[in-house]
Amino acid sequence: KEISWTPDTVQKGGYAHFMLKEIFEQPDVIHRATHAVSEETLPSSLRDAKSITVVACGSSYHAGMIFRYLLEPACGIPVRLELGSEYKYTPVPFSDVIIGISQSGETADTLAAIRKGICNNVRTVAITNVLNSSITRSAQDTILMHAGPEISVAASKSFLAQVGVLMQIVNLLSGRQCIDILDHARYAIEQVLLTDLTDAVDICSSADHLFYVGRGVFYPVMMEGALKMKEISYIHAEAYAAGELKHGPFALLSPETPVIAICSPGQAYEVMLGNMKEMKARGTPIIAFGLENDTDVRDIADVVIPIPEVHPWIQVLTSTVLLQLLAYHTANRLDREIDMPRNLAKSVTVE
Ligand code: G6P
Repeated sequence: KEISWTPDTVQKGGYAHFMLKEIFEQPDVIHRATHAVSEETLPSSLRDAKSITVVACGSSYHAGMIFRYLLEPACGIPVRLELGSEYKYTPVPFSDVIIGISQSGETADTLAAIRKGICNNVRTVAITNVLNSSITRSAQDTILMHAGPEISVAASKSFLAQVGVLMQIVNLLSGRQCIDILDHARYAIEQVLLTDLTDAVDICSSADHLFYVGRGVFYPVMMEGALKMKEISYIHAEAYAAGELKHGPFALLSPETPVIAICSPGQAYEVMLGNMKEMKARGTPIIAFGLENDTDVRDIADVVIPIPEVHPWIQVLTSTVLLQLLAYHTANRLDREIDMPRNLAKSVTVE
């Protein structure tokens, strides 16, 4: 497939920053990404896989982590997840297929992993946003995610597109259990784009340290949220699986260390509420993602960011968008160079 990028699509189009424009493009992006691969175009290496290794860096690694949380329970296929930069230190790959996720298709460490797979006779699949990028020339199969050009250094729509493509792969491998649900994603994202985050931004922009906590698939969602915050606002932000807080990070909690927590309905709800109460007892300000009418969350949290009542997969997407907006508005309040953060590059072509 050809990509039809025109000069118009790489203008700011009235937005203050490319990042904000790219965040607002996501309702369309998710639609394109979830239709980027079908029964007919799914690489046979994935269809036949009994085990999968995912290799990626930065935001792409978080997308891979979300994939693992969704694929393993849906299909029983074990997923090994590796950072591109560490993969070279592992012994011979043992999965049937390696998926390299890279929005730019040029990240040296991810490319090296693909080449290592090929040298060891493992089949390889690239998931990328860039036609004819280096990864597409190295991997045996490519899935393009059709996010469109992303100018801002921090990944936003390319990350959401990766997650969209990966959700669609889970769909296809598991018998299309969620295909209809994904069709609603664009409308849910349109809704959350209108959320007023002023109160949460007030707290975040005056903090030196922020903790992000979630459980299950929302743990990598929070890792991505914390990465966005540190990349563009320069506030120290760390994500923890909520259950790990008591194994060390609790020592750092105080009224000066706000925590951002996701308390969405489902398996981990009760235990997350319990975790939030423990944090509150340390005087920690809490910004909670919770359902609008959830009085339990409202009683504990200082600020509630309302989340829509939707399928957990869509909750992953909408929470991601809200975390991007939180990072964006916090960085904007602090007058940061949002599209070109200091010391960072869009693609890292050295190991
Ligand atoms: C750089 C970018 C990140 C990106 C990472 C991986 O560090 O600043 O936004 O997530 O590279 O890039 P890739 O192109 O491989 O997804």
